[in-house]
Amino acid sequence: MPTPALTSRLPAVGTTIFTTMSALAQQHGAVNLGQGFPDFDGDPRLMQAVKDALDAGHNQYPPMAGVPALREAIAAKIAALHGRAYDPGLEITITAGATQAILTAVLALVHPGDEVIVLDPCYDSYEPSILLAGARAVHVALTPGSFRPDFAAIAAAITPRTRAILVNTPHNPTGTVWTEAEMQQLAALLAPTDILVLADEVYEHMVYDGATHQSIARHPALAERGVLISSFGKTCHVTGWKVGFVAAPAALMAEFRKVHQFNVFTVNTPMQHALAAFMADAAPYLELPAFYQRKRDLFRAGLAGTGLALLPCEGTYFQCVSYAGLAPEIAALPEAAFCEWLTREVGVAAIPLSAFYPDGHDQQFTRLCFAKRDETLERALARLRQHLVPRGPLA
Ligand SMILES: Cc1ncc(COP(=O)(O)O)c(C=O)c1O
Repeated sequence: MPTPALTSRLPAVGTTIFTTMSALAQQHGAVNLGQGFPDFDGDPRLMQAVKDALDAGHNQYPPMAGVPALREAIAAKIAALHGRAYDPGLEITITAGATQAILTAVLALVHPGDEVIVLDPCYDSYEPSILLAGARAVHVALTPGSFRPDFAAIAAAITPRTRAILVNTPHNPTGTVWTEAEMQQLAALLAPTDILVLADEVYEHMVYDGATHQSIARHPALAERGVLISSFGKTCHVTGWKVGFVAAPAALMAEFRKVHQFNVFTVNTPMQHALAAFMADAAPYLELPAFYQRKRDLFRAGLAGTGLALLPCEGTYFQCVSYAGLAPEIAALPEAAFCEWLTREVGVAAIPLSAFYPDGHDQQFTRLCFAKRDETLERALARLRQHLVPRGPLA
């Protein structure tokens, strides 16, 4: 029997660039600085806490919204860091990572025919989530070059159908971190509207050089209309666990939970207990900026002299570089072709920035992930230094 004819819900979606580049990296024995995950383990105390949770018999369905102790720990953390008191009973839900949280928030709050503003370049799950809700993604470019929000362009994109704006700070892929003034500008822009803010804050604890993460929780006007989304995968070096959370005012959260309970219903129990126990100590997440800033600095210093030009990296564990200064035949490659060449010929896998644009916009930029052991970074740097030839006197 032939398979019945199908009409795809997501006709434009194929295999993600992350999967493609990881496979290519493996095929060519390349150091994989493409996909954003650490090549080191989470804290041994967290691993022990999982074993303890399993042994303690925390193996059945937890409450739909999540293990209470974890929701309380998250509420306490947000209150301590940002000064907003979310009610753990009504305003915090544990999710199967941020990806599920984003999809669930969009399905719960966005209706067919609505528009959702996304700021390009952006994470690849945003637009499919919006399409599955029957809505339309309205793409607004971050300012070319600086990748800072362009409020005039955002204002121009607002229509009576705009239901939400998706904001991501610290920002994947560019590493920019919104300032307090920018958050205030967003609040002022949205004040006369009913537009919701979906705030992807998965890199909340990776902000460098003494800056403060501008969570929507610090900005009452945004928090009141906002869904804060984060992920323990990033914060605890356990991307494969797929545990995250959402914090939002009770009215928004009530709608979120209606979809959540028929989407995943609950999230795996032992991990939630382990994370709750681990969060009793704030040191691991408070020390995260220093941990990653050291890696960022090591990586940036090593990249100097490779001919790759560094973009600023204010947060996240991604460093973007321009290859426009390399030998002309290499600099002329489109980003995707450059990344393939880099993986095959140099032995370092990276992600083209064009993958984060709906039209594959090409700027001679690529993204490298530095959430790696120092030895891994050194190995990648040695290959880059050996193979990349800057244009100019050295060429
Ligand atoms: C900006 C951004 N949002 C969401 C996610 C997804 O997080 P999770 O693995 O918790 O689903 C990622 C993961 O790379 C990300 O970079």
